[in-house]
Amino acid sequence: MTTDSRVKWDYTKLAATYTQRPPYAPKAIDRIVATCGKTAPRVADIGAGNAHLTVDLLSRGCLVDAVEPNEAMREIGMDRTAGGTVTWHVGIGEDTGLETGAYDLVTFGSSFATTDRPAALRETARILRRPGWFTCIWNHRDLQDPLQAEVEALIRAKIPDYGYGTRREDQAPVIEESGLFETPTVLREPIMHRVPVSDWLAAWRSHGILERQAGAQFESILADIDRHVLALGVDELEIPYVTVGWIAAVREGRS
Ligand SMILES: C[S@@+](CC[C@H](N)C(=O)[O-])C[C@H]1O[C@@H](n2cnc3c(N)ncnc32)[C@H](O)[C@@H]1O
Repeated sequence: MTTDSRVKWDYTKLAATYTQRPPYAPKAIDRIVATCGKTAPRVADIGAGNAHLTVDLLSRGCLVDAVEPNEAMREIGMDRTAGGTVTWHVGIGEDTGLETGAYDLVTFGSSFATTDRPAALRETARILRRPGWFTCIWNHRDLQDPLQAEVEALIRAKIPDYGYGTRREDQAPVIEESGLFETPTVLREPIMHRVPVSDWLAAWRSHGILERQAGAQFESILADIDRHVLALGVDELEIPYVTVGWIAAVREGRS
């Protein structure tokens, strides 16, 4: 459950299957962490959820403060990172409750679009050290892949104007318009996700964007996808993804 009324995206029902979602491309994470130029950077991971990105940051030596408003997601995240160099906090991207000027890096793993982005950028600039970096990343399924195109067609048969909204948009304009960051660099790292069919179908049940737009049709769209994929008669799928991200240095002298 999420008790903060400022949270517009409630992940409670999606939490149980969220861990089946694909990992980020390791090279993308390497590049983000290397940007800090430190062996143990201090990182605020915002909207950390089930710790998908947090786990990657910890495995690269980061000291992490993970911020997550949703109890169900946070509990899974805390379990997955137990014993790691991480402290969990209840908070939101727009109001983390974290210390001013304390972090080398602030990360949003698939969570930037759940925030009021200009407010989250102001809060990010507040908690960053100088020098310090903001990054937001997502995994985009390659919609040109034949199977993915078929799945998209199934979705659009029931939601003709289905769209991915902010998460598939260029984030550079909102970052630059904040006036708080230098021009961002863009990351694009492909990753092939080989996954048991049952896991891939389960992961659709944690798809927040589909759930929001499908409304009462969510279960029937999931059933359509299940039927289509199970009819392929295979145990495993190869799903091409691209980890897409933006990295921007906070401007000196602003907090
Ligand atoms: C798509 S999940 C991403 C989880 C994880 N960071 C990852 O890399 O997969 C988005 C997370 O953002 C959280 N969230 C929702 N509104 C938020 C807000 N305003 N600020 C920060 N996080 C928020 C959700 O509860 C959810 O756990």
